[in-house]
Amino acid sequence: MSSSGLSAVVVLAAGIGSRMASATPKVLHEIGGRSLLGHVLAAAVPLQAAQHLIVIGAGREAVAEHLARIAPDAELVVQEEQLGSGHATRLALQQVRGTGPVLVLNGDVPLLTPDTLTQLLAAHRSAEAVMTVLTARVENPYGLGRILRDSTGAPVGIIEHSDADPEQLSIDEVNAGAYVADGLALSAALDRLRTGNAQGEQYLTDAVGLFFSDGKTVAAHVAADPTDVLGCNDRIELAARGRTLNERVLRRHMAAGVTIVDPVTTWIDVDVQVGRDAKLLPGTQLHGCTSIAPRAVLGPDTTLTDCVVGEAAIVFRTYGTGAEIGPGASVGPFTYLRPGTSLGRATKAGAFVELKNAVVGEGSKVPHLSYVGDTTIGEHTNIGAATVTVNYDGITKHRTTIGSHARTGADNMFVAPVTVGDGAYTAAGSVITEDVPPGAMGVSRPRQRNIAGWVRLRRPGTPAAEAAARAAQESGTQDSGPGNSAANGPKQS
Ligand code: UD1
Ligand code: MG
Repeated sequence: MSSSGLSAVVVLAAGIGSRMASATPKVLHEIGGRSLLGHVLAAAVPLQAAQHLIVIGAGREAVAEHLARIAPDAELVVQEEQLGSGHATRLALQQVRGTGPVLVLNGDVPLLTPDTLTQLLAAHRSAEAVMTVLTARVENPYGLGRILRDSTGAPVGIIEHSDADPEQLSIDEVNAGAYVADGLALSAALDRLRTGNAQGEQYLTDAVGLFFSDGKTVAAHVAADPTDVLGCNDRIELAARGRTLNERVLRRHMAAGVTIVDPVTTWIDVDVQVGRDAKLLPGTQLHGCTSIAPRAVLGPDTTLTDCVVGEAAIVFRTYGTGAEIGPGASVGPFTYLRPGTSLGRATKAGAFVELKNAVVGEGSKVPHLSYVGDTTIGEHTNIGAATVTVNYDGITKHRTTIGSHARTGADNMFVAPVTVGDGAYTAAGSVITEDVPPGAMGVSRPRQRNIAGWVRLRRPGTPAAEAAARAAQESGTQDSGPGNSAANGPKQS
């Protein structure tokens, strides 16, 4: 038997979600890096119910594929036609094996917490009710089902917004879309549902009225924090729920010793880890499974997805995905880290540098204006400004290998596959197409030649020609180019 004694958690996720106006099923929309459905499941999983049943329908292929990834043990129940939340629940209850209570959850209530659900379950038990509804008192109940109570305060029914009269609309206690019930009794009640309502649907919420008229005890548990139970039916609510969730996540990190300078512009997904005394400057966004070690400083304006940042690293104005940044490394500004990049301890990736699938050894630097892709760089090597690793021949990608303690010149191209040995140098402006052995200097550029007097001949009368003439006079040298000297040349205006 599971710890909560629940036979099943049923999540209703078959609705079309038409108010989202989206090609994506509503429950797959994300906040905090997790789908709405994923949030609901995360709240329910700690209760350790014997079965998790998810009712899918609209967009079912996408929802099923998503569930296979995030909840492979969940059992799927297909609702072919979306006849209402009551119909969806009835289909799921047919699959329940145990005889304990069941928890039914709307799939679009992403801020539910395990604590709130545990309290709902406790309230259900202590009331010895056949069904207990999670409710909340909210400032704006628009669109939600209202809780009807009799003069003794006992819940007697739920009236949907579209079916409510003005007096009922003024009720501020709403149905949160989370219910605990005796599975068999609920199943029997749902068999009796009618569709004579504004939406022509079988409402799960009508079970409350049916139980009441049968003389059975129905309970309502008011959520301590009404924000826990807010649903998500359109993009405006999606943004609002996302901000509430983000505020919760930020508060958790701040309580654990993370400095967040500007919570309004800092966004952290639920699964991100941030170490103590890390400092997040304004405009920092941390997504996916990103993990930040203690004392790292991120931002301003840094977005990292699925990245690992080492202790005391500094990452400013950087966009990174799938990259590892070593302890004490310095990255930014305007740096683009792409998947497979691993910057070692005390490395540097500077301004306007893009790294892809590049391994940079301890203490090595790629300071300026470079593209380094499919590359391995050893330790304590300096890569000259404006370097490009030419990794793509139009068909396949090739690797560049640069050793340790190397010094490559500015404006180099490394035409991969190519290797530069330990302690080697390359000359500025070189196109390196052949391996450079350890300790060698690789030079690959035409020798320079100067055509003396060219300006005087070809650009006479220009400021450049005048400057050259002055320079020749001051130094007492002759501008001994082809054609004549500066002193004797015809003066032109
Ligand atoms: C529902 C409740 C309302 C409550 C609100 C809280 C009903 C009739 N009303 O309204 O009292 O205040 O949630 O957020 O339940 N679904 C199916 N199959 C269907 C229809 C719906 O699986 O045929 C699922 C939806 O995917 C959703 C849930 O049931 O997860 C509720 O449906 P939704 O259309 O969002 O109902 P609300 O109008 O929000
Ligand atoms: Mg809803």
